[in-house]
Amino acid sequence: MRLVAFGVGYVGLVTGTGLAELGHDVLCVDIDPERVRALRDGVIPIYEPGLGDLVRRNGRAGRLRFDTEVTPPFDEADAYFLAVGTPPGPDGSADVSAVHAAAGQVAKVARRPALVVVKSTVPVGTCDAVQAGLDGKAKVALEVVSNPEFLKEGTAVQDFFRPDRVVLGARGQQARDTLRALYAPLQLSGERVVVTDPRSSELTKYAANTMLAMRVSFMNELSRLCHVTGADIHAVRLGIGSDTRIGKRFLYAGPGYGGSCFPKDVQALIHLGRANGVPMRMAEATHQANEEQAHFLARLVEESVGSLAGKTVALWGLAFKPETDDIRESPALKLTDVLLARGASVTAHDPEAARNYQKATAAAGARVKVFDRDYDALDGAHALVLLTEWRSYLAPSFAEIRKRLRDAGDGKPPVVIDARNVWKPAEVTRAGLRYQGIGVHTPAAAPGEP
Ligand SMILES: NC(=O)c1ccc[n+]([C@@H]2O[C@H](COP(=O)([O-])OP(=O)(O)OC[C@H]3O[C@@H](n4cnc5c(N)ncnc54)[C@H](O)[C@@H]3O)[C@@H](O)[C@H]2O)c1
Repeated sequence: MRLVAFGVGYVGLVTGTGLAELGHDVLCVDIDPERVRALRDGVIPIYEPGLGDLVRRNGRAGRLRFDTEVTPPFDEADAYFLAVGTPPGPDGSADVSAVHAAAGQVAKVARRPALVVVKSTVPVGTCDAVQAGLDGKAKVALEVVSNPEFLKEGTAVQDFFRPDRVVLGARGQQARDTLRALYAPLQLSGERVVVTDPRSSELTKYAANTMLAMRVSFMNELSRLCHVTGADIHAVRLGIGSDTRIGKRFLYAGPGYGGSCFPKDVQALIHLGRANGVPMRMAEATHQANEEQAHFLARLVEESVGSLAGKTVALWGLAFKPETDDIRESPALKLTDVLLARGASVTAHDPEAARNYQKATAAAGARVKVFDRDYDALDGAHALVLLTEWRSYLAPSFAEIRKRLRDAGDGKPPVVIDARNVWKPAEVTRAGLRYQGIGVHTPAAAPGEP
């Protein structure tokens, strides 16, 4: 098939490239000329494992092209995928203007009947609104279909080729058949396509993200309760996760959820509920609990080093999760804001997201310093907070960390706050550091123990 993908971000670039890899002729269109230029040179504007090789291979094979507009022969494409951003507006509602703008482009150029496939995450009713806009403008029949994306940054390429499920929201049988055929090669180990109407499909995406975010926020709230009651979040997780009705995944307490999807989609669902007179109480509480987690982290630092004014806190891990350079709504950004507001300075390191974090915190000037090497970020800091469990942080030299960090000043050793609960407390304390996890309790060393 001849296909066009609008937007070369995490979703559009992976989708366009994945479809090219399946043998289709694909044009990726983006309004950002720099991104397009870079991609034509084989340079990937985002960090996504495995994507670079695929882009270059399909580019060389002539199946994958990049442009700032739709050019012939792609004005005669079979389908136009819209994978542009839908960021939150000031009131939390999803801004779908880029979706309408891209659809407007399709209306202008399309010279044969085609599908317009909305992959962006959009509020219920958006596909219908896009359809209404096209019906007035397009010269040919264009059918709008909802096909929300469920890929995860960091494993996006894998997720494209082996999706858990594909959700298709289409009214026409022909549209359903065309998309089923397009996704058939990805369904080799059993059909996992859910076919429904566009509105249910649109809501499914918000429901999925909010339910996952809810689990995370619930565990984070429990971790705070563990912290003050002496219960242990690991035990609670194992205890509930082994119930098959609950399941094991997404039950890890941590620094709060972040990224370009959960925070904005939870907020968009809250807004959608309000706009329709149906308060989304669970989503509201999920959002609130997440906002509070950054303050809980700051409190953990404070409990260990005293007032934050004039202190330096080192952060390891700035991306919202490992294997991505995406820092949108990352816990590191939220914690940075709280620390700065309380008078602390921040030193920081991340294997891939340092540049994005530096740009996002530029207004703080010298109070935020980003380092190329992980241990260099620790020199003279009063505490280290591990926020992202990148592999390179999993087995550090705690002796080196001890050497670089500054003593608390009250005779106590420096503290590391393991906001991902991935380090072994005994290893940390053996190096002469204090350990603080999230909702876990480190027994004081027995007399005679190092
Ligand atoms: N990132 C994820 O993990 C993920 C997962 C599932 C769904 N989604 C959803 O997919 C959509 C895209 O997300 P993303 O993270 O890939 O976004 P992104 O911000 O990484 O990329 C969006 C791209 O769209 C381009 N763009 C904006 N307006 C355009 C237009 N009119 N024509 C062509 N290009 C245009 C931008 O220049 C940018 O390159 C969002 O709705 C998001 O909620 C994202």
